[in-house]
Amino acid sequence: MAEEPLQHIAVCPGSFDPITEGHLDVIRRAAHLFGRVIVAVAADGGKQPLFSLEERMEMARLACSDLPNVEVDSFEGLVVEYARRRGAVALVKGLRAISDFEREVQMALMNRRLAEEVHTIFLVTHPDYAFLSSSLAKEVFTLGGDIAGLVPPVVAERLRQKMGGSGEER
Ligand code: PNS
Repeated sequence: MAEEPLQHIAVCPGSFDPITEGHLDVIRRAAHLFGRVIVAVAADGGKQPLFSLEERMEMARLACSDLPNVEVDSFEGLVVEYARRRGAVALVKGLRAISDFEREVQMALMNRRLAEEVHTIFLVTHPDYAFLSSSLAKEVFTLGGDIAGLVPPVVAERLRQKMGGSGEER
């Protein structure tokens, strides 16, 4: 008899300023592994974001609209408290290069100390996106470089609207 897949909930937290194809690759794989995935956009990521919380959430929603078991939400405060409130068993994060490792392990161990029942799971980023970050995509775009295929079309459009005057020939 075939077993029902587990209906566990996972949270994919981040600043998503803006969401990239690297994020989406991780979210898609998490959606395959878990019954439900909550993309949790940090309201207070600690950095000065280019996009408002509402803009970041809207772009994430549009980019994930083809994934029926994925929802986009926002959170403030500790991510593990948010995960607890939502009944999530895991935080799923992408791990790019060695440079991510130290900070991510530091956060995972702190989160474990705060909430042992919320497990951090790292998915190694697809090699196509191993060099990609939101800030690098914004920088390349601003300087007139081509970011097609690195961010979803809606993000490229919003970047054009927001930074239309900067960069080259826009
Ligand atoms: O996309 P980012 O900027 O790498 O995401 C970082 C984020 C938002 C996941 C991280 O800063 C976070 O979890 N912030 C919430 C506050 C919190 O729980 N801090 C303690 C983590 S050990």
